[in-house]
Amino acid sequence: PLPSMLDERMVRDVVYGFYDKIRADDMLGPIFNGAIADEEWSHHLAKMCDFWSATLLRTSRYQGRPLPPHFALPGIGEEHFRRWLTLFKATVQQLCPPPVAALFFERALRIAHSFRLAIAFNRGE
Ligand code: HEM
Repeated sequence: PLPSMLDERMVRDVVYGFYDKIRADDMLGPIFNGAIADEEWSHHLAKMCDFWSATLLRTSRYQGRPLPPHFALPGIGEEHFRRWLTLFKATVQQLCPPPVAALFFERALRIAHSFRLAIAFNRGE
């Protein structure tokens, strides 16, 4: 049975499960694997656990700026965000009880929307 509460363990399972899907994905795999070298993945995953822990559990573990690295990714558009969100939704639905899955997904959707706008604005679209 699924655990019922959002905790650090669930954050970790979601992050690892999600980036497993991402790295195996035809569309997003090459983008992520191109930006993050093999030996940097464990650092990236730890940072993403910090990010989600800070975002949903209000720990202060992530102190970074999430947006800027995304400006450096060439050719990121609508279809990439749609795919990212599809894989994220599939992950949280597999690993979390419905209210927790909804919490993760709502937050991801909101952040994805703000990134999309910022990237388009940055390009002068
Ligand atoms: C970092 C790709 C959407 C949160 C990164 C990195 C890549 C990436 C390649 C590593 C950059 C580097 O270290 O050089 C993408 C792509 C996306 C996407 C292709 C969608 C098309 C999102 C969304 C979120 C997010 C929706 C939040 C819900 C983050 C965070 C970092 C990150 C927190 C770490 C930033 C830091 O270094 O502090 N992303 N991302 N990303 N991404 Fe995304």
